[in-house]
Amino acid sequence: MTRAELEARAIAAARNAHERAYSPYSGLRVGAALCDINGAIAVGCNVENAAYGSTMCAEHGAVMAAVVLGMPAPVLLAIVTNGRAPAPPCGTCRQVLVELAPDVEIISVAGGGADQRQERWRLTDLLPHAFLPSSLDTPT
Ligand code: THU
Repeated sequence: MTRAELEARAIAAARNAHERAYSPYSGLRVGAALCDINGAIAVGCNVENAAYGSTMCAEHGAVMAAVVLGMPAPVLLAIVTNGRAPAPPCGTCRQVLVELAPDVEIISVAGGGADQRQERWRLTDLLPHAFLPSSLDTPT
């Protein structure tokens, strides 16, 4: 599978997932799809809650799904929203991603059809100097 095919599949999966968003409070629909080089895909959507702090982000859900699928090395994270501008993952999602999908390139798409907008980032640029498992090391 070519990189372009991989990206198209990931974006399509994230778009499907964003249709499933449960976001009655913000109205923002977010879908996320993590994929590996073989084209395996793990998806998530945002799931809000009347107790706002119990909301789960789409990217966080996608990481959970990737763990369940046994996807050790995701290479791509596609995000699709119904927002005006492409959304980067929030700080918590960056931290979750850096531990379980550290090498992902992120493609974020806002909207659909002719006026969709797209942006790309590397996770390492979005979260420099991350807190890592090695940060837990203590002198013995
Ligand atoms: N949201 C995500 O799904 N991912 C992010 O990285 C940031 C925010 C969701 C959570 C909430 O349902 C809505 O977007 C507004 O914050």
